[in-house]
Amino acid sequence: MAATATLEPAIPEHLRVERTIPANTPKNYQPPFPAYSARFPKETKGLVTAIIGVQGKEKTEEHSPEYRQLVGFVEKKQGASKPKYWEAASVVDNRGYYNEVVIPYWETKEDFEAWKIDSGFEKWWSSLEPGSGVGWFLEVFLPSIDRFETVFSDNVEPEGVAHMRESVSGTLQEHVYWGSMRDRLPVSQTDAIPGEKTTIKPKTATANGHSADTQTRRIHVSGRKNLAMIRSGQDWSDTKPHERKLYLDTMHPVLIKGMDFLRDQGEEVGCISCRFMDVIPKDPSTNNTSQPTDKTFGLAYFDDLASLEDWSKRHKTHLDIFGRFIQYAGELQNEVSLRLFHEVMVLRPEQQVFEYVGCHDGTGMLGAAV
Ligand code: HEM
Repeated sequence: MAATATLEPAIPEHLRVERTIPANTPKNYQPPFPAYSARFPKETKGLVTAIIGVQGKEKTEEHSPEYRQLVGFVEKKQGASKPKYWEAASVVDNRGYYNEVVIPYWETKEDFEAWKIDSGFEKWWSSLEPGSGVGWFLEVFLPSIDRFETVFSDNVEPEGVAHMRESVSGTLQEHVYWGSMRDRLPVSQTDAIPGEKTTIKPKTATANGHSADTQTRRIHVSGRKNLAMIRSGQDWSDTKPHERKLYLDTMHPVLIKGMDFLRDQGEEVGCISCRFMDVIPKDPSTNNTSQPTDKTFGLAYFDDLASLEDWSKRHKTHLDIFGRFIQYAGELQNEVSLRLFHEVMVLRPEQQVFEYVGCHDGTGMLGAAV
C-alpha cells in the first residue's frame, strides 16, 4: 500500500451534478493508501440485494435442510431472472439462535420480481406458517444507483455487488477522512439524506424469550425514511502466516468488540440491527460444512446515515478498529494482504422490504418495530 498521486473522484462522471451540499474532502487531500470503487454500466438504474434467512435454535455442523432449501431457490436454473451472484453466511445471535442466510444480487427490480415467480420462491414464501420451530426472514434492498456506494482495498477481487461491476475505478480521492462515505454517495451532492429517529428496543439478550409473540406471527415491517445499511467485509484468506496471526490475534478481537457493541447496545447510537457474520461455503452439494471461511462481514442497519457516521468517527469501538488497522498496516510496512470492503446504501421507504415469519423479536428490523 503506497501513497498515490493520481486520484479519481468516487462519483462517476455521469452521476455528478452541481453540488448544493459541499463535500467534506480536506483541501489538497492525499489519502494515505489506495482504495477503489466498483463501476457499473451507465444505463444501470439501481440494484437489488436480498438477505434471505432461516433462524433455528441450534448451530449445526452441516448446512441445515432449511438453508439447503434457500440455496435451491437461488440456484434454480431459471434463466435471466437467476441472481447474478449470491453468497452465504451465518451467525449465532445474542439470543443464541443460529441464523443462516443467502445473499443474492440482481441488476434490476424486474429481474428480482421475475425470479420470485420463476423460482417458486413467492409461492413457497407466502405458504410459510409461523410457529413451526424455525423462523424465516426476508430483507430486500432496492437502492437507485445514486443511493449506494462501494469501497475496496483491492482492485482485483470483487465482493458482493461488485460481481456485477463493469470495471473498477482508479484510486479514489474520497476515503479515509471522516465524511468520505457520504461524499461517495451521489445523492449526497444535493440531499442531506436525513433519517428518522426511532425507539430502538434494548438489545440485551432476554434469557427466556420475551419474543414468543413475534415467533407466532408473520410480520411486515414498513420501510423507513433514509434507512442506512452497511455491509463491511474482511477477507484474510490470502494472508501469509505472519500477517494471519497478527490479524487473528490483534485485529479480529477489536472488530468483534465493535460488532458486539452494535449488536447488544446499538440502540445507544441509532443502530437497529447488527449481525457480525461468517461467510460460509455456499454450495451444499459440493461442500456441506457450515464451518466458516476466512471471511466475515458486519451487516448493520442504522436509523440515519449520520448515526453510522457518528459511531464510526466518535465511538471508541470503531476508533479502536480504525486505530488498530493503522498500526497493523504500519507493523506490516504497508504490505497488507488483508482485503477490506464495504457497500453502503441509504434507502427510500419504498426501496426496502422486510418480512419476518416466526422470528424472535431481536431479528433485523423487528428491533425497531413497536
Ligand atoms: C471507515 C477500518 C470494520 C464502519 C473506515 C476506514 C478505515 C476503517 C481504515 C476509512 C476508510 C476509507 O474511507 O477509506 C476498518 C477496519 C475494519 C472495519 C480495519 C475491520 C477489520 C468496520 C465495520 C463497520 C465499519 C464492521 C460497520 C459495520 C465504517 C464506516 C466508515 C468506516 C461507516 C466510514 C466513515 C466515513 O467515511 O465517514 N473503517 N473498519 N467499519 N468504517 Fe470501518
